[in-house]
Amino acid sequence: MNLISNESLQPFDFVLFGGTGDLSIRKLIPALYFRHCEKQLPQDGRIIATARSSMDSDEFRALLDEQVRQHISDQDFDQQHWASFLDRVHYYPVDVTNVQSYQALVEALSGREEHVRVFYLSVAPSLFMPITKGVHAAGLITEHSRVALEKPLGRDQASAEDINDSLSAAFKEEQIYRIDHYLGKETVQNLLALRFGNALFEPLWRSERINDVQITIAESLGVEGRSAFYDQTGALRDMVQNHLLQLLVILAMEPPVSIDPDAVRDEKIKVLRALKPLTGIDAIENSVRGQYKAGAYSDGPVPGYLDNEDIPDDSTTETFVALRAEIGSWRWEGVPFFLRTGKRMESKTTEIVINFKKVPHSIFPTADGFTTPNQLIIRLQPEESIRMRIYVKAWGDDIQLQPVYLNLDFNDVFQKRKMIAYERLLLDLIRGNPTLFMRRDEVAAAWAWIDPIRAAWEQYQYRPKNYTAGTWGPGAANALISKEGLRWNED
Ligand code: NDP
Ligand code: BG6
Repeated sequence: MNLISNESLQPFDFVLFGGTGDLSIRKLIPALYFRHCEKQLPQDGRIIATARSSMDSDEFRALLDEQVRQHISDQDFDQQHWASFLDRVHYYPVDVTNVQSYQALVEALSGREEHVRVFYLSVAPSLFMPITKGVHAAGLITEHSRVALEKPLGRDQASAEDINDSLSAAFKEEQIYRIDHYLGKETVQNLLALRFGNALFEPLWRSERINDVQITIAESLGVEGRSAFYDQTGALRDMVQNHLLQLLVILAMEPPVSIDPDAVRDEKIKVLRALKPLTGIDAIENSVRGQYKAGAYSDGPVPGYLDNEDIPDDSTTETFVALRAEIGSWRWEGVPFFLRTGKRMESKTTEIVINFKKVPHSIFPTADGFTTPNQLIIRLQPEESIRMRIYVKAWGDDIQLQPVYLNLDFNDVFQKRKMIAYERLLLDLIRGNPTLFMRRDEVAAAWAWIDPIRAAWEQYQYRPKNYTAGTWGPGAANALISKEGLRWNED
């Protein structure tokens, strides 16, 4: 499957707004470095970082030397490649809220109008509009320009529309790349390969065969240095509106007619629109909000969310969400999709679990363990794997069924460095392949499903339930699923 073209890149200028920020240091610069090492960046490909801090390019390179190095393992670091990579990097101080400030970029980019020009907005969403206006007013947007925005796009459907309107005033829709880095993860793309590259699964992929689906994105980290952003955002906006819904739509979409960007995105949006709305009391009954309190991991205790000095003592921001969703379509009618995500959960685990229906009639004596059905587990983190649980007869005199796993660990199969999600996305961005980016209508449809849930939480003053850091979330999340005789997969 040719999801991503391997055609070589044209000369480019990658203008990185927020070049000193957390995301740039931890993910974006390392991703570009790895692609440089793989010789996938053209000779004439420049990275032009900006932020307000006053420094010159040499000082910025020294900062990268000190900070980015921590995010590249010794095994993947090569001093010579790093030195030649840094030659590509330039820095200009720009306050994006000050129109005069863009002059530095005008000079840096002058004479390079024929090259691909990427504006990457790795800044707070409140700066998306000033930057769009700023680069437009400074005449920096060329025919070969693209703009990339980080999620979450806005805080709700209305604010997302405002941002989109402002973007559309300066860029054509095909120049706008809305990032959800989960779409850059190998296993997410492998989900497409699994479903549409094999005839085996399609007949099973429907309500007649599938009992329920669970999607979990659990993190063991807390909010780290992002308290201010997180407290204004919460898990529903930070994770469900984008990453969780993207996993859901890829899992549930109909086969696209081709791998063409719009063919794929047309099918994705149909699923978002088919999600049954959760409104009012229905939203309360089908959702769980949680907030972590102090707890402990094997390496020691961790403080609670409210113990963080940057978080107001009375904050009711959720750090955990569980939802029961349904898709109103021929394929999925009646199949519950259980979604959950949280900070400071027991372990960093991202997985999709598909529970198939039980056999209609068991001819075997009921043995312990034969209460759960066949299961397909697609794991994205910590390891990338696909496991299928089937029943076999255990060796011995008795006819005793035992669950065993058919195991596919991508590490064993491919035995090479696992790309970070941004490597693929940044190359696609420079190349101009929008398949793995979100279209405007997709973002709007996702917010349209999310907004009523938040409105119901406000209407019913639904405060988050506490859970202890290091656990799988509040007990109410278990109750949500056990009502249907099910349990979360936590093996
Ligand atoms: P940070 O707060 O760490 O970085 C923000 C950057 O913006 C800094 O470089 C800051 O530098 C710069 N900045 C702030 N104000 C201005 C200004 N007026 N003019 C110019 N530059 C400015 O944010 P993150 O890196 O964490 O996040 C960036 C974006 O990515 C956000 O939209 C976030 O939601 C998204 N995101 C982040 C993830 C992460 O893991 N960090 C994951 C997924 C998405 P200075 O103060 O020097 O100006
Ligand atoms: C980001 C969220 O989009 O995804 C963070 O803003 C979260 O809060 C992160 O930690 C998780 O990404 P990953 O790739 O580590 O699962």
